[in-house]
Amino acid sequence: MTTPNQQRTPGWSPALVDRTARRTAQKEAGFLLPYLKPGMSVLDCGCGPGTITIGLAEAVAPGEVTGIDIGAQQIELARANAAQSGTANVRFQVADVLKLPFEDNSFDVVYANTLLMYFQDKQQPLKEMGRVLRPGGPIGIRDLADADATWPPDGPLEQAIALHLKAFIYRGQWDPSNGRGNRGHLLRAGFARCQASADCEASGTPELLALVADVWKMRVLASNLWVEQGWIDRPGQERLAQDIEEWSKRPDAFHSRLYCSAIGWKEG
Ligand SMILES: C[S@@+](CC[C@H](N)C(=O)[O-])C[C@H]1O[C@@H](n2cnc3c(N)ncnc32)[C@H](O)[C@@H]1O
Repeated sequence: MTTPNQQRTPGWSPALVDRTARRTAQKEAGFLLPYLKPGMSVLDCGCGPGTITIGLAEAVAPGEVTGIDIGAQQIELARANAAQSGTANVRFQVADVLKLPFEDNSFDVVYANTLLMYFQDKQQPLKEMGRVLRPGGPIGIRDLADADATWPPDGPLEQAIALHLKAFIYRGQWDPSNGRGNRGHLLRAGFARCQASADCEASGTPELLALVADVWKMRVLASNLWVEQGWIDRPGQERLAQDIEEWSKRPDAFHSRLYCSAIGWKEG
């Protein structure tokens, strides 16, 4: 199966890689950290550049953490990040979350950050993640909820976000239950005692807003579909990218987005 994200993986811009590489276990897995103990084994599915995975490894040391990702480039980056951080109890391998190369009940904890939102059918990856989780162990998932708040309102970033969402809907790839449906997705996959929480990623400093602008300028300029469908013309696309750049430099600019998390436990 090809997910939208698989198609997107090779096209990651340096800005998006940079933004993703700033993720940490404290922030992106904070909802799961209270359940981690030294010595546990953890699987991080769709680990990307591995910065969260490395934080998870610190939390369970001397336990082993495995990060898998379908993108070979992501795994290379993750290995380089682990080497740079000197983390010894983490390993990375290329693998598909739909066909995990591990025995049943292999891990004490399974985790995925912003992976499930790329699957229309979330039950398939969840069942496979549940298969490799040991009975009684927790699974933690966290995804975007498609809820952005920006200042000023109706600015160029909101226009770009609206077009981005329109493209997802057009391609039949948007799932309104992303993130906010995570508790229900876990329940339907058979996990018990499911509970949900949320957190927010906020950009309100020149440095973070520059990263937001870089990511969105790339998205705007690379979106041929928007032009093909007549939603915007090429000069409009370039103007929008320029407007985002200027918006990001405003002393009052602000962007935030909601992420929803859920934890469930494998029966047994
Ligand atoms: C938005 S990124 C999140 C990366 C990482 N979890 C983080 O938050 O920093 C989603 C990741 O899922 C990976 N991915 C997409 N489809 C996958 C699949 N079928 N199996 C494993 N990984 C997959 C992508 O290659 C990408 O690195």
